Amino acid sequence: MARWRHLISLADLSSEEISGLLSLAIRIKSERAEYRAALTGRTLGMVFQKRSTRTRISFEVGMLELGGAALFLSADDLQLGRGETVADTARVLSRYLDGVMARTNAHQDILDLAEYGTVPVINGLSDLLHPCQALADYLTLLEHFGSLQRLKLVYLGDGNNVAHSLLNGAAKLGVHAVVACPPGYEPDPKIVDAARRDGAATGAKIEICHDPREALRGAQAVYTDVWVSMGQEAEVERRKIELAAYQVNTDLFACAEPDAVFLHCLPAHRGEEVTDEVVDHERSLVFDQAENRLHAQKAVLLELL
Ligand code: CP
Ligand code: NVA
Repeated sequence: MARWRHLISLADLSSEEISGLLSLAIRIKSERAEYRAALTGRTLGMVFQKRSTRTRISFEVGMLELGGAALFLSADDLQLGRGETVADTARVLSRYLDGVMARTNAHQDILDLAEYGTVPVINGLSDLLHPCQALADYLTLLEHFGSLQRLKLVYLGDGNNVAHSLLNGAAKLGVHAVVACPPGYEPDPKIVDAARRDGAATGAKIEICHDPREALRGAQAVYTDVWVSMGQEAEVERRKIELAAYQVNTDLFACAEPDAVFLHCLPAHRGEEVTDEVVDHERSLVFDQAENRLHAQKAVLLELL
């Protein structure tokens, strides 16, 4: 049983715990059959307030492959959608389930599920964080480069939930992470400050800047995410204009190292934050990232359930 009881933020885990999860994920990936009965009889509830392809399917398949079961619980179809509180929902779910994975609008809902429930809670994306994604991303980078220490990862675009979890993870894993974004799109300063503090112990370097070309100098991995996250639909037009200079196209990708890889959590809005040529590039790892959601999350499930 892990010392940590929930996966809400990678900042809550130690460097050793995150590295341990990555090692376990690599083992699970290569010895898939060995873990077939590891969670027999266990049930994970999956609460979704927002849509999902990868998170929903990888958690559901992950539980099945570990011998357990997963329930898809659309928030609209729960009494939650009619005003039952998150706290009461958490108390009730805890009477049936061995764990809850939740994708919420407000990060506070994830915190409330953990506070009022009695079973482990896994953050499957909130408006603040996406820790399961960052775990899969660092697993992908570790497999590709063999080591994460001082790897230069440059994230271009909106300093959003995905960027936040990448920074949390970079700090713990000794990664040199740079976020290049327009003024006003910077990641949450509290997350940046905490990442810098945590990074002092691991050799991680955390930088925020505005010049994408300058940021990409020496980059070994280039990452981007959508300009308009779920829930920000009213800002589409403004965001498209203000983030345009951060589109990862062939020209910008060429500013990174010649063997740099491209990452994206998906879904990609092709032609906006990234062009077809880069998503489909031979150095794009986006589908390895998607696959690694399954392996990384199985490691989390094994530790928590
Ligand atoms: N990357 C990610 O979380 O994808 P989904 O929204 O499809 O789950
Ligand atoms: N930043 C995106 C990630 C989707 C997986 C969003 O929150 O919509």
